Amino acid sequence: MCGIVGYVGKQKAAPFILEGLRRLEYRGYDSTGVAILQHGAFRIVKKIGRVANLETEVAKSPLTGTHGIGHTRWATHGGVTDANAHPHLSSDGKIVLIHNGVIENYSAIKKFLLGRGYTFASETDTEVLCNLIAYHYAKQADDAGENRCLAAVRKALLHTQGTYGIVVMCADLPGEMVAARLGSPLILGVGDGENIVASDVSAIVTRTQSVVYLKDGEIVHLTPREFRITTADRATVSPLVDQVTWSVADAEMGTYAHFMEKEIFEQPLALENAMRGRFSADGSTANFGGLNLSASEFRGIERVQFCACGTALHACMVTEHMIERFARVPVECDYASEFRYRNSPLHRNTLFFVMSQSGETIDTLAALREAQRKGYKVLAVSNVVGSTIAREADGGIYQHVGPEVGVASTKAFTSQLLIGAMLALYLGRLRDLSFGDGVEFVRALKAAPDLVRQALAQAPQIKAIAQRYAHHTDMLFLGRLALFPIALEGALKLKEISYLHAEGYPAAEMKHGPIALISEACPSVFFAPQGEILNKIVSSMQEIKARKGPIIAIVTEGVELPAGLADEVIVIPDCHEAVLPIVASIPVQLLSYYIAVERGCDVDKPRNLAKSVTVE
Ligand code: AGP
Repeated sequence: MCGIVGYVGKQKAAPFILEGLRRLEYRGYDSTGVAILQHGAFRIVKKIGRVANLETEVAKSPLTGTHGIGHTRWATHGGVTDANAHPHLSSDGKIVLIHNGVIENYSAIKKFLLGRGYTFASETDTEVLCNLIAYHYAKQADDAGENRCLAAVRKALLHTQGTYGIVVMCADLPGEMVAARLGSPLILGVGDGENIVASDVSAIVTRTQSVVYLKDGEIVHLTPREFRITTADRATVSPLVDQVTWSVADAEMGTYAHFMEKEIFEQPLALENAMRGRFSADGSTANFGGLNLSASEFRGIERVQFCACGTALHACMVTEHMIERFARVPVECDYASEFRYRNSPLHRNTLFFVMSQSGETIDTLAALREAQRKGYKVLAVSNVVGSTIAREADGGIYQHVGPEVGVASTKAFTSQLLIGAMLALYLGRLRDLSFGDGVEFVRALKAAPDLVRQALAQAPQIKAIAQRYAHHTDMLFLGRLALFPIALEGALKLKEISYLHAEGYPAAEMKHGPIALISEACPSVFFAPQGEILNKIVSSMQEIKARKGPIIAIVTEGVELPAGLADEVIVIPDCHEAVLPIVASIPVQLLSYYIAVERGCDVDKPRNLAKSVTVE
């Protein structure tokens, strides 16, 4: 939530910062702003709305300095106004600051600062922190040789409760900046005669592939040629410089109309990348490099607990089915935000998994920490290399699907389903799943990319259906067993990008209440795959039809529904039950996408949302 970027180097800072903000815009897009230090004073330009608005403002009076910061905001404290946009300037004009996170004790600090003559132009918690740094800066002389701005930031943070990724500049110190993090991501890009700080690597890769993932509690002081990382108690940290493995092109939209469209159609390749090199030589099980647990430790696991949020939680719920079905190990899934406070009793031999595309979701991170605090090992499934969750977990699995930019998760979701199925296979083969069943399972997983290609080929038909149904205001998604979480995911996709009211339900639960919603105005999307409960699903469809509810049926090849039962039928390939949720996800992603396009919605940046939720 919120994208931040800081540049200190030899080139003009503003063009690079604006480009970085465009790449970070998916993290928040309520307002944007930039501050450049030139001729000893800050020039700050900030505007509500998108980066494009800011670019128009900046073009009116170009910024020439080589040292600056920029921010794209997802509002927490204070409405969406120009005044609340970042960067914030201290009332003495000395300090300018950008911030991602929440300063929880901001009112007490504000009261303290008001009593000392500081004034405030915004309603934000960030401006309070900015003035607190200015207060410490003004109060102290050079502190035992430490840079005065760095010392002021360190002091201010000692009195701050909450989360932050911040970048600070001081009017007296051109060519320098200070950045710090606690609970919000921050990455350092190490360039040639220039250094960069940003929320994620997408803002850095145009200049350098060399990055340092800063840890919680670290503070970095940057100049164009040097950087020095320290901890809160001033101990120097030896930096570990990593190389980013993806290129700028991976984060470009290419010929697609939206990132979401690109990411939907990228799924066959994404699935291939997620499983590449992860099967045993005998072709009967999965192999994961970074789990850091031995086969016998896995064998001793008696329960598995998953925690995640949103789409990632839906992936966990499908994985629950797969692990219970193929490995016969009981699984629990929980909203990370609930798990962290509920204090539920946990079985001794429980293995924890968290799933998070971004690896930065604060609730998921907190659930991970809570489980570790109780002495459990926690493994993570994540897409972003070097993310906080990936680093803090005891082991894990990277999704390897490249950057996902669209706020609505698609390729990350199906790759999580794939990894979940591979986990079920791995755990199953450590128990009672036979060699033959394992070989069949592996073959089925390897076929998934082609099956997804076949499902994607239905796009023109699904687009036509979307155009017919886009005027509705309510829609239900109904599925059973492992397709119930896909129904939840279908409803979430539609809600988040088209603003339609949608609900996912287990099909047979309809008669216990939600069927009261059914009328000609409320269509239902039904999953009706081949299988032993197909007849039961057909009965649920009949109950909807009897009440005049329009039905869009997603069936597997070979399913013949009674004539006239479904108003629309989308056929997907019949496949192994471990792969079915992946293939069944495609039509609901496409349906949501085309409905949102038809309704003229901003598909990649839906209102009120941000891709990476780093506040509680
Ligand atoms: C996905 O479409 C959503 N935007 C959202 O639910 C997301 O899955 C959730 O915020 C969790 O994100 P994470 O996977 O990065 O942890």
